[in-house]
Amino acid sequence: MKTLLKKLTETASPSGYESAIREVIRTEISSLSTNIKVDALGNLMVTMGKKTDKGLRVMITAHMDEIGVIVSHVEKTGLVRFSNLGTILPQYLPGSRVVFLNGIRGVINQDLPDDLHKVLTQEKHFIDVGATSEKDCPLKIGDVGVFDRGFIELGKRVSAKSMDDRVSCAVMIETMKKIKNSPHELVFVFSTQEEVQSKGATTAAYEIEPDLAIALDVTPSLDIMGIKMQTELGKGPAIKVRDVGMLSDPRVVRWMENTATKNKIAYQLEVLDIGTTDARVMQISKAGMPTGALSIPCRYVHSPSEVIDMDDVHATVDLLIALLNNQINLQ
Ligand code: CO
Ligand code: ZN
Repeated sequence: MKTLLKKLTETASPSGYESAIREVIRTEISSLSTNIKVDALGNLMVTMGKKTDKGLRVMITAHMDEIGVIVSHVEKTGLVRFSNLGTILPQYLPGSRVVFLNGIRGVINQDLPDDLHKVLTQEKHFIDVGATSEKDCPLKIGDVGVFDRGFIELGKRVSAKSMDDRVSCAVMIETMKKIKNSPHELVFVFSTQEEVQSKGATTAAYEIEPDLAIALDVTPSLDIMGIKMQTELGKGPAIKVRDVGMLSDPRVVRWMENTATKNKIAYQLEVLDIGTTDARVMQISKAGMPTGALSIPCRYVHSPSEVIDMDDVHATVDLLIALLNNQINLQ
C-alpha cells in the first residue's frame, strides 16, 4: 500500500481541479466494476454489487482533492500573491515550495515582519518563481498549485503532502480490491471539493440516494501537541462521534464499535473541535440518512508534511471490510 500511497500523494490536484488524481485512481480501480461514472462536479463514483433483500445501498466517500493555492495578483517585481483553496495555515508557508498545474515551481516566503520571529497572515506571503518582472512571470491570475513535497518513510510511519485525504483514497481502493460477497450495493465515491465545503459529496449523495453513508477522512492527531483531544497515531481508526459539522448517528457509532470489537480491531473514539468531513453533507442530503465516519489519525494536518501510521491504514481497511461484508442492523 505504500507504493499506492506514494503515487496518490505525489499527484497534484487541488479542490476543483481533480482530473489528474481522478485518472490515477481510475487506473487503479477500472477492472473492479463495470459501473463507473463521473458526474458534473467530477466525483468518481464506482458501484459494486447489487442491493439484496438483506442489504442496503451504502455510500462511502474519500475526498480526492487537496488544499492548494491560487494566484490572485502578480507584482511588478515578478513576485506572485495568492489566495487559498481550502484552509492554508500561515505557519506552514515560509520556506514551503509549490508546484502549479502547468509545471511551474515556486518558493513561498513572507514580507519582512517587524519582529523576525513572527509569522504574518497569508496575504502577506508571496511565491517567488524566479521571475524578475510582471512580464516574464510564467503565472497568471487564476493559476492553481499545491505544496511540492515528496513521500518519505519514517519507520512504520510515512509522510507526504495531501495524506488528507489520499490516505483514505488508498484505504478505499484497497477495500474495493479485497471485498467479496457483500449483501449491499456499495457506491464508492472519490469526491471532489471537500476542502471547500464538501461540494462533491453534496451532489453525489443527492444522486445516489443511499440508505446509509460513511465518510473516510483524516483526523488531526494532537497526541504530541498537548491538546486534550485524543486520537493517537498507531491506535487504530477513530470512530467519529462528533465534529464541528456533524453528530454521527449513535446507532452507526454502536455498529462500528461492535464490529471492531467482534473482529478484534483496535479503534479509538473521536470528538473533534476543529474541522468536519463529507459526512456532514451526506447526513442531511434529501430526507437525510444514518451517517458516520472513520478517521485516520494524522499529525500536522494541512501542512506540507502530514504524518500517518501504516498500522492505522491497514486496520481501517480491515474494519471497513468487516462493516460492509455483513448485514447491517442499526439499533
Ligand atoms: Co482537509
Ligand atoms: Zn480531509
